[in-house]
Amino acid sequence: MTVVLNRTDRDIAEAARLLAAGELVSFGTETVYGLGADACNARAVAAIFEAKGRPHFNPLICHYATPEAAFAHVEAGETARRLAEMFWPGPLTMVLPRRVTCPVALLAGAGLETLAVRVPAHPVATRLLIAFGGPVAAPSANRSGGISPTTAAHVLAGLDGRIAAVIDSGACRVGLESTVIDLSGPVPFLLRPGGVNLEALEASIGPVQRGISIEQAEQSRTLRSPGMLVSHYAPRLPVRLKVRDVGDDEGLLAFGPALTGARAVFQLSETRNLNEAASRLFEGLHWLDAQPGLARIAVMDIPESGLGLAVNDRLGRAAAPRA
Ligand code: TXA
Ligand code: MG
Repeated sequence: MTVVLNRTDRDIAEAARLLAAGELVSFGTETVYGLGADACNARAVAAIFEAKGRPHFNPLICHYATPEAAFAHVEAGETARRLAEMFWPGPLTMVLPRRVTCPVALLAGAGLETLAVRVPAHPVATRLLIAFGGPVAAPSANRSGGISPTTAAHVLAGLDGRIAAVIDSGACRVGLESTVIDLSGPVPFLLRPGGVNLEALEASIGPVQRGISIEQAEQSRTLRSPGMLVSHYAPRLPVRLKVRDVGDDEGLLAFGPALTGARAVFQLSETRNLNEAASRLFEGLHWLDAQPGLARIAVMDIPESGLGLAVNDRLGRAAAPRA
């Protein structure tokens, strides 16, 4: 059963304790309720996708208590700092390059080299972030394909029993998601219209480019943003899937008892736990890609159930013919 917590100091501390234990906690922000997990704990982040029933590893927004805390994990130039001064705390999310020292799980950013960061303007969110003391990854707290929740009752209607707790934070003021702006390229690019309007952004930093919306892009599957381009997740090495044997010039991505004969082995989950495998997938691809002397990466068969669908989706992209 999902526990309903209140806004008392005691309950906020309990929510922070649950996050630190790797549990999922929904909390109010000024936009919509988020489904939060410790952003640095890959297993907890994987549990978000599982709870939402999300078929793909869309990158998640990392929430921070302060701009300083956010900018310690991403590279912020002048434009980002200006936007932070103008709009944080508030309904604006910035996509920026990860710092090499960034401790956020690769899965939270879906393996991308950028990270979406936001400092929410809601007392419950802020108190929780301070009590927890680290970044909280959080998509909207609805089942995949459902409507974003703006009350604790909405959250329970979709996720009761699937998450540890929800903090009843009242109704959300903005009620629609944050604006997402990509500042990782040569020009600012609007990825999702939201709580901060385009005019306000442009008044502060000049012209912002816009293409198709994330929703349109998700439908057409030709994404610039959530990295849905077919070969976006490709490692340097070629990838062979569903292998039943492995060569001594190959690195093995194992799932369950490892095939023998590989030059290097990365175990996704000894016990064939799909949540654990999902949480270790991007780490494994990165690690094997960096091992010397490998001709390719060989991947053992992974079932399509649960998070296996998302794992196989990403592996299919990794193995897709390169343009
Ligand atoms: O208002 C909000 O933004 C809410 C509250 C909880 O903060 N969160 C939210 O998260 O709407 P979500 O996961 O539903 O939407 C995040 C959007 C997705 O469309 C995702 O593709 C995009 O941000 N995004 C996240 N990280 C990205 C990245 N590194 N590059 C490009 N797009 C990214
Ligand atoms: Mg959403």
